[in-house]
Amino acid sequence: MEVVSTKAELRRRLDEARAAGRRVGLVPTMGALHDGHLSLVRAARAECDVVALTIFVNPLQFAAGEDLDAYPRPLERDLDLAEQAGATIAFTPTVEEMYPRPAATTVHVAGLTASMEGAARPTHFDGVTTVVAKLFTIAGPCRAYFGEKDFQQLAVVRRMAADLDQPVTVVGCPIVREPDGLAMSSRNVYLTAEERSVATVLNRALHAGAALVEAGERDPGTVAERMAAVIGDEPRARLDYAEVVDPDTLERPARLEPGSTVRLLVAAGLGTPRLLDNLAVLVP
Ligand code: PAJ
Repeated sequence: MEVVSTKAELRRRLDEARAAGRRVGLVPTMGALHDGHLSLVRAARAECDVVALTIFVNPLQFAAGEDLDAYPRPLERDLDLAEQAGATIAFTPTVEEMYPRPAATTVHVAGLTASMEGAARPTHFDGVTTVVAKLFTIAGPCRAYFGEKDFQQLAVVRRMAADLDQPVTVVGCPIVREPDGLAMSSRNVYLTAEERSVATVLNRALHAGAALVEAGERDPGTVAERMAAVIGDEPRARLDYAEVVDPDTLERPARLEPGSTVRLLVAAGLGTPRLLDNLAVLVP
């Protein structure tokens, strides 16, 4: 695996790869890699000849008072894990390299960013889409791999790439979980042992919601209330939202139509971090 830290060098290597007929995969991350990230690298490696993993803690997507400074940055360990998983290039730019001056141009995806994570973190998605647009521009034509863990982010990035005709195929990959069901996240390290033991409440809430749908409930509001109640029963968790949405529009349907697939999403604060989880459900 080659480690490159300038935009020009990454572009040159990926241009050369394409010129040699190689397929290019891109895996954007903020590092502190775990099996969720590495599953994206493996998926990319299965479909592409060259896999560029990017590690960049993007200041633009953190609001004042969020964990930008505290965000874990175990670079040497990340590089080892990335190489073992099959990455062929690691892109590790500095903030100055990515933003030589404050960006006057940002990317805003309207609509899809208004609810859920966008409501909780009003400046977050513009930071995500701006840095991902830059990464897509630097990388050039490729397949780019994103986790369903951040389901709204995946929908937003997909829409951006389509609206802006970016030469990138956005590929969504399933959530990787701990054995007890907790979705893997770089922020799980912030949980105390006690918080960690109750963190499965998000996943339990999703399964309670799914069970209701599978038992014939057709009112999305009732399903959302059930998930909120499960999280509400855990005194240490601070419910942020519990939603039932169409996977493409991220809007709550009026009724759950038999044969359709909906996405259940929850977010809650637990100690320091906010945790997210989601689940696809086929309406019987
Ligand atoms: P980060 O949180 O590091 O996540 C990088 C990618 O890994 C995202 O696509 C995310 O959805 C995926 N991922 C994280 N945990 C996962 C899990 N348990 N299972 C499957 N995939 C998982 O998301 C970001 O960084 C940033 O917003 C970024 C897109 C890099 C832009 O800065």
